[in-house]
Amino acid sequence: MPHRSLCLAACGLLLLLLGCCSSSEAQGRRRRLSREPGGISFEYHRYPELREALVAVWLQCPSISRIYTVGRSYEGRELLVIEISDKPGEHEPGEPEFKYVGNMHGNEAVGRELLIYLAQYLCNEYQKGNETIINLIHNTRIHIMPSMNPDGFEKAAQQPGDIKDWFVGRSNAQGIDLNRNFPDLDRIVYINEKDGGNNNHLLQNLKKTVDQNTKLAPETKAVIHWIMDIPFVLSANLHGGDLVANYPYDKTRSGSAHEYSACPDDNIFQSMARAYSSLNPAMSDANRPPCRRNDDESSFVDGTTNGAAWYSVPGGMQDFNYLSSNCFEITVELSCDKFPPEELLKNYWEENKDSLVNYIKQVHRGVKGIVRDHQGNPIANATISVDGINHDITTAKDGDYWRLLSPGNYKVTASAPGFLAVTKKVAVAYSPATKIDFDLESLSERKEEEKEELMEWWKMMSQTLNF
Ligand SMILES: *[C@@H]1O[C@H](CO)[C@@H](O)[C@H](O)[C@H]1NC(C)=O
Ligand SMILES: *[C@@H]1O[C@H](CO)[C@@H](O)[C@H](O)[C@H]1NC(C)=O
Ligand SMILES: [Zn+2]
Repeated sequence: MPHRSLCLAACGLLLLLLGCCSSSEAQGRRRRLSREPGGISFEYHRYPELREALVAVWLQCPSISRIYTVGRSYEGRELLVIEISDKPGEHEPGEPEFKYVGNMHGNEAVGRELLIYLAQYLCNEYQKGNETIINLIHNTRIHIMPSMNPDGFEKAAQQPGDIKDWFVGRSNAQGIDLNRNFPDLDRIVYINEKDGGNNNHLLQNLKKTVDQNTKLAPETKAVIHWIMDIPFVLSANLHGGDLVANYPYDKTRSGSAHEYSACPDDNIFQSMARAYSSLNPAMSDANRPPCRRNDDESSFVDGTTNGAAWYSVPGGMQDFNYLSSNCFEITVELSCDKFPPEELLKNYWEENKDSLVNYIKQVHRGVKGIVRDHQGNPIANATISVDGINHDITTAKDGDYWRLLSPGNYKVTASAPGFLAVTKKVAVAYSPATKIDFDLESLSERKEEEKEELMEWWKMMSQTLNF
């Protein structure tokens, strides 16, 4: 994985730089590349401009950024990611990973632009010496994918004039709605809830099935691999067409069109969604009229909603993250208008800037630590379970784990095949995360110890009783 991704990054970058000069899409749109170093240009970025904008951030902040691609869209555009981290390209043991994904629906354009501005902002503030941002970047590996559906965006953006059709460009170039295209793991977990069975990592040994599934769009497949390969802890998926932070589950348990369908982590998910909505004045405004007169926003509370209580979505990316990996994801609807006039973009940035930064900070909540054996070797893929929450997470390659939790007292257990499980009591404050490491004794060590104890006992008995 590291070699392959390095190569991908290098090749991707070369393509980026070459592509910028040759792509026909760039012709005629080389206007306004007016961004002074350190400035943010509040305008729409077509695909070549998106690449240029990311490259500009990388050139300005090379020590804390890296551009890579997770794959290509149906029409061959790169699914570009800019990583912001003090060790670009590396997972640092103990440091949590975070991601933002924008523009999954190609015509929902605000998230795509906000993520470009966010990358620019993080780079600028880091260079200015902003301590909040420096701390965040030193302690978090942040991945930003401005567009998961670059083909759809081009289709939407090509429409003349300021008023765009409500649907044009929503799907990928094959006509697939990417947010209905993920394996429907809710269906499996709802069955397992009744019949007994796993509540997490439901795609564990099915990676091959994903690759062979012809119904999955290339964008979906690429993102599934990304989700499964990097130990993400927290994520948000940015959409448009309404104003709300939406949390799992997205699909109803009963199959009805609307029904609150709590996931086992309902509590912390509500808190995560509020961490976004509460700093966005329009989103959290209780007196805001619905986006359109006939919209049913009755499930909205303080700018948040349970996904399924609003309307049921099967095959969405949000629940896929939660049920296939350790990553907790919410879906944020950023604007009533999906593709607003360019003049409003600055305003959207102002309204979302604090939310975007605050939401990244949430990755530093709950409990975190490392699971090791008695020789000090990390145990990967160990299970971390919390009493009373029926959803386990697992340790990453270095034995490190992050378990998002609301403030309170918990019993946390680490277990792994061949080891004795250990349970610890933990008090969790709002933040930062409480650090709890686990040292697990292997069952073979335990057998040896028991044998020795038995020998000792025999020796003592025989001496005492003068056998
Ligand atoms: C530093 O960044 C934080 C988070 O975005 C922001 O709230 C704060 O205003 C910035 N500080 C300065 C001095 O600009
Ligand atoms: C992780 O552990 C689970 C159960 O302990 C097992 O089913 C699964 O195959 C393991 N995965 C890997 C990648 O080792
Ligand atoms: Zn959408």
